[in-house]
Amino acid sequence: MTQSKDTAANTMWGGRFASGPDAIMTAINASIGFDQRLYAQDIAGSRAHAAMLAAQGILSDSDAAAIGEGLLTVLSEIEGGKFTFSTALEDIHLNVESRLTEIVGEAGKRLHTGRSRNDQVAVDFRLWVRDQCDAAIAGLTELMRAFLAQAEAGADWVMPGFTHLQTAQPVTWGHHMLAYVEMFARDRSRFEDARKRMNECPLGAAALAGTSFPIDRFATAKALGFDRPTANSLDSVSDRDFALEFLAASSICAMHLSRFAEELVIWSSAQFRFVRLSDKWTTGSSIMPQKKNPDAAELLRAKLGRILGATVALFTIMKGLVLTYSKDMQEDKEQTFDAADTLMLGLAAMTGMVSDMTANREVLRAAAASGFSTATDLADWLVRRLGLPFRDAHHVTGTLVAMAEKAGIDLPDLTLQQMQSVHAGITAEVFEVLGVENSVRSRLSYGGTSPVRVAEQVARWKAALG
Ligand code: ARG
Repeated sequence: MTQSKDTAANTMWGGRFASGPDAIMTAINASIGFDQRLYAQDIAGSRAHAAMLAAQGILSDSDAAAIGEGLLTVLSEIEGGKFTFSTALEDIHLNVESRLTEIVGEAGKRLHTGRSRNDQVAVDFRLWVRDQCDAAIAGLTELMRAFLAQAEAGADWVMPGFTHLQTAQPVTWGHHMLAYVEMFARDRSRFEDARKRMNECPLGAAALAGTSFPIDRFATAKALGFDRPTANSLDSVSDRDFALEFLAASSICAMHLSRFAEELVIWSSAQFRFVRLSDKWTTGSSIMPQKKNPDAAELLRAKLGRILGATVALFTIMKGLVLTYSKDMQEDKEQTFDAADTLMLGLAAMTGMVSDMTANREVLRAAAASGFSTATDLADWLVRRLGLPFRDAHHVTGTLVAMAEKAGIDLPDLTLQQMQSVHAGITAEVFEVLGVENSVRSRLSYGGTSPVRVAEQVARWKAALG
């Protein structure tokens, strides 16, 4: 990157300036260090604009052809690493336009007719964020497939279900995996919604008020894959809702990633041993040879910090900004770029970890059977078979749990005699509901943990995900 060494006024807009900016002004003002990531979108936007100008008779066909070709040359220079980005030229828009003019001469200077960098950056950034929505949707689909495969393999494996991280009731592995499929499906639909809403083209809003040139905004919108042009030029150049929506959806998604990451950290510990993480997603310790640390899961647990930080930053940048464009808005990009990169990496890492993890079926089952996990089944049985009101059944069961706890045993280990000492009506049939397999099998309500219901949901998601 070249620094501005002289004090000459900016060649792109310096007509009224006698001297160039202070070096520190150049440093704070320039965005090329990061917005060069928008080069492909900038060139696509300019090509659409030039073609439209020619179609409208605002630009000659030969100038438009020269611009179109020249922009492709710029594109290949950038992609080939042969392009010299200049800080003096501030941003990607001026860098591309300046190089275009070097290549094609006069015609290059006509490209900026009927537009401004304000609508230019708005369209470039929208195109970029739209691509990121597509990437998030694709990444989430892969992640859902990974969870779905786990759910299918272990639709009837029994594990403890938790509330307060205390054993609550037995559930099935498949049911737990499908909970994440639901969460990531909501994330996916948030990106789909945001994408739909952002798919309007701000190009042609010009600086803020529209333009006196007879441009065709519907043509450029169509050429760039937008549904329609934006309807208000002031809103067009000052709106960054699309980035905020992307960041908000990303934050919720990263929160979901962090929740499963935390489960993996706990589940893979020596104390739990619910799952074994693959060597591919763990690291060793340089001093403790026995260690296998769940670093990827820990990092995924942390990544929301960055993404939410970016979200809060952009809200803070946009808050209280008067219409229309203010330079504050240049601060939108680094935050969004970093959040998007972090999210895509996180989705890929989680997909890999989930695909490669192995559930420890025996440990899961043993854990499910401990901690009085079928106490609710016992209470339900007392209601169903003995006609007790649920509150009384709850009390009887509580007394039995206390009795078992005192004896250092679990509920199914109590004798019938012991049970009858608490409620005389209890029969040997009760032992059937105290087994974890029977417990999960009985949870047949829609959305419940029964293997039958889980299999139905697996089938539904398989059909949906293809
Ligand atoms: N680099 C600027 C940004 O990212 C582009 C728009 C500049 N517009 C202007 N009038 N200075 O926001």
